Amino acid sequence: MEKIRRTKVVDLLKREDFGAMVNVKGWVRTRRGSKQVNFIALNDGSTIHNVQIVVDLAKFDEEMLKHITTGACLSVNGLMVESVGSGQRVELQASQIDVLGTCDSAYPLQKKGHSLEFLREVAHLRPRTNTFGAVFRIRHNMAIAIHRFFHEKGFVYFHTPIITASDCEGAGQMFQVTTMNLYNLKKDERGAIVYDDDFFGKQASLTVSGQLEGELAATALGAIYTFGPTFRAENSNTPRHLAEFWMIEPEVAFNDITDNMDLAEEFIKYCVKWALDNCADDVKFLNDMFDKELTERLRGVLKEDFVRLSYTDGIQILEQAVAGGHRFEFPVYWGVDLASEHERYLVEEHFKRPVILTDYPKEIKAFYMKMNDDGKTVRAMDVLFPKIGEIIGGSEREADYDKLMTRIEEMHIPMKDMWWYLDTRKYGTCPHSGFGLGFERLLLFVTGMANIRDVIPFPRTPRNADF
Ligand code: 4AD
Ligand code: MG
Repeated sequence: MEKIRRTKVVDLLKREDFGAMVNVKGWVRTRRGSKQVNFIALNDGSTIHNVQIVVDLAKFDEEMLKHITTGACLSVNGLMVESVGSGQRVELQASQIDVLGTCDSAYPLQKKGHSLEFLREVAHLRPRTNTFGAVFRIRHNMAIAIHRFFHEKGFVYFHTPIITASDCEGAGQMFQVTTMNLYNLKKDERGAIVYDDDFFGKQASLTVSGQLEGELAATALGAIYTFGPTFRAENSNTPRHLAEFWMIEPEVAFNDITDNMDLAEEFIKYCVKWALDNCADDVKFLNDMFDKELTERLRGVLKEDFVRLSYTDGIQILEQAVAGGHRFEFPVYWGVDLASEHERYLVEEHFKRPVILTDYPKEIKAFYMKMNDDGKTVRAMDVLFPKIGEIIGGSEREADYDKLMTRIEEMHIPMKDMWWYLDTRKYGTCPHSGFGLGFERLLLFVTGMANIRDVIPFPRTPRNADF
């Protein structure tokens, strides 16, 4: 086959130099036509769109043609011509076809229109579908947007460890990391496991958050963000929870809770705008296929200021809703940890736009949050989104050593492994704030997908670690 430099489909479809000889490589989506002429829809992952290859069957070897089946991988040389019928401006008249990889007839993606549930069972192949091609291109674009946003603002991308000995959220939802022989564990006389001989010489786990180390960095570099995988062994089988998810955690010295809210709002809007500006074809595809209000919802978020409201006021609204006859599955009262149905009521039914809820009861929030003067609430903030519920959780941090120690003791946080964190409060402590954005929750919002398992390539959930 004559060697011609490969053109990506995304670039080919923009070209106007009709009459040029080009090469494309990709996978067959469909093949149809008559006994004389066939039309192959070829996709190479660079765009949601396929390029149509027109094949004059008489010009090609019959044996080779038999191998052009759905899923097969082809290299095609052909003449770029203006298209009338294919829905594209450009198509290729094939002059040479090389079958790089034949596709066994057991290929699970033969037909279109598989359910998302089925596609999860073939997660190793689902990136080849239109839907997952779109989702993963958007996922990439959101990662780029995030780095650009913080880089442009002078934040330092700081890498926090994945293996750690401290439970940042204090929720006891950590996956343990060990090289010990589980069939022969060393125990002390009280039956407790002895970790002296374990790899790290102490109990170690996968991190639930990079925040604590992020705070160290913020009190040195001023403004940092993390962006990496985090792990939670919470047994929640919901469309919004993963055992392994990616989190973005900015942390900024001298920011108070209001600055923190401003940053969160500007950040999310930047990401949503990026998707509208840079992923138009993919967003449109998902809008048309799954969620007819997607584009409008994304535009809506850009237009309006987020509502800012205290937890106490939020509870009052929910109580009024209950009094007015609205039924929630879970009870509403001051002190309760809000369920997703409560959060979504505030966002979707009451205010009809994103809400930042602040000043939560200290009992339902982590130890590091700054105490308010009322002694009952802490300077927490959760950003609540339509269809998602909590998309961001954050706070102003307790900068005072004694107050922080009091909280740590009240909440029985194991101190032994926290000495280094406390040093920030001893050596030039400063007011500071930060938050964590769940990357997959952002993707749920931007793609309109309904299940978090469908916005990460290989989801990890209870009883599932395939691929
Ligand atoms: O509210 P969370 O637990 O807050 C923290 O981890 C803080 N250390 C963040 C900080 O202040 N630096 O988690 C933050 C966000 C949530 O709002 C949610 O979007 C996401 O992380 N998240 C999850 N996403 C998917 N699956 C899970 N199991 C998640 N748990 C939290
Ligand atoms: Mg939270």
